[in-house]
Amino acid sequence: MQEIIEAIKRSAIRIKEAIEFDDTGYSENTNSTGDTQLKLDIKSDLIIEEEFAKLPCIKEIVSEEKEDKTPLHVNGIYGIGYDPLDGSSLIDVNLSVGSIFGIYEGGYSGAHLKAAVYVVYGPRVELVIAMDDVKLYRLNKKGEFVFIKDIVLKEKGKLNAPGATQMGWEPRHKAMIDAIFMDGYRLRYSGGMVPDLHQILLKGGGLFSYPSTSDVPNGKLRMIFEVFPFAFVYEKAGGSAIDGKRRILDLSPSHPHDTAPCFFGSNAEIERVKKCYE
Ligand code: F6P
Ligand code: MG
Repeated sequence: MQEIIEAIKRSAIRIKEAIEFDDTGYSENTNSTGDTQLKLDIKSDLIIEEEFAKLPCIKEIVSEEKEDKTPLHVNGIYGIGYDPLDGSSLIDVNLSVGSIFGIYEGGYSGAHLKAAVYVVYGPRVELVIAMDDVKLYRLNKKGEFVFIKDIVLKEKGKLNAPGATQMGWEPRHKAMIDAIFMDGYRLRYSGGMVPDLHQILLKGGGLFSYPSTSDVPNGKLRMIFEVFPFAFVYEKAGGSAIDGKRRILDLSPSHPHDTAPCFFGSNAEIERVKKCYE
């Protein structure tokens, strides 16, 4: 596992440099969801693939930017699901973006997840590793990730990050979000799930939601690359993650790009979501 973390650190440093200095324009390709890929999406994906290909312990990888799994080493143990550059369309307005990694063994359901890691490329580069607990590291001048602190969610927070197109929200969802704001919660939503979820984790708690809507009945966020890794991080930090009714980590996708509605938060907010959706 440690060598996978080291490969992620090397990838993060290379991706950070690409974000800072490369062309931010579009390529001529589309990914399996139909999004036009930025040149930076493709480059970040290649960097990660190159770094993971060096490790015999990795059996295969599955990227948000590719339709199918990429086999690496037949005798490998781990499968890694990753989103190389989440929120990449925010780079041209200079907002924070991230990379997300789920390290799986024996399959790609929530139950097969062994560790989750994400990187935030913001004013500073930060790395969060969730295994038995959740640890925050920050990149220093020498190119090393220095341990900063353990991340632990409070029972109840103050932030609300409500995703998806509001005109497509179910009335019960709208009523719940309105009620949360009426209780004094503050709106925090950049449109990048990595910085939005990172902010809630570091400010002690709150709720991030990407519900089922009339335009995307299964939500937008992909289970293997986005939803499972963050569900793992939130649970290990003492919070919860559900799809409305069920625990996210009990779900299994039938296709690598399957999505799920998702709610991540501290426990008090997730209890509110359960009451709304039961
Ligand atoms: O990967 C999808 C993504 O860019 C996430 O980072 C983000 O949380 C979400 O889309 C934002 O979607 P919307 O603009 O529909 O709220
Ligand atoms: Mg993404």
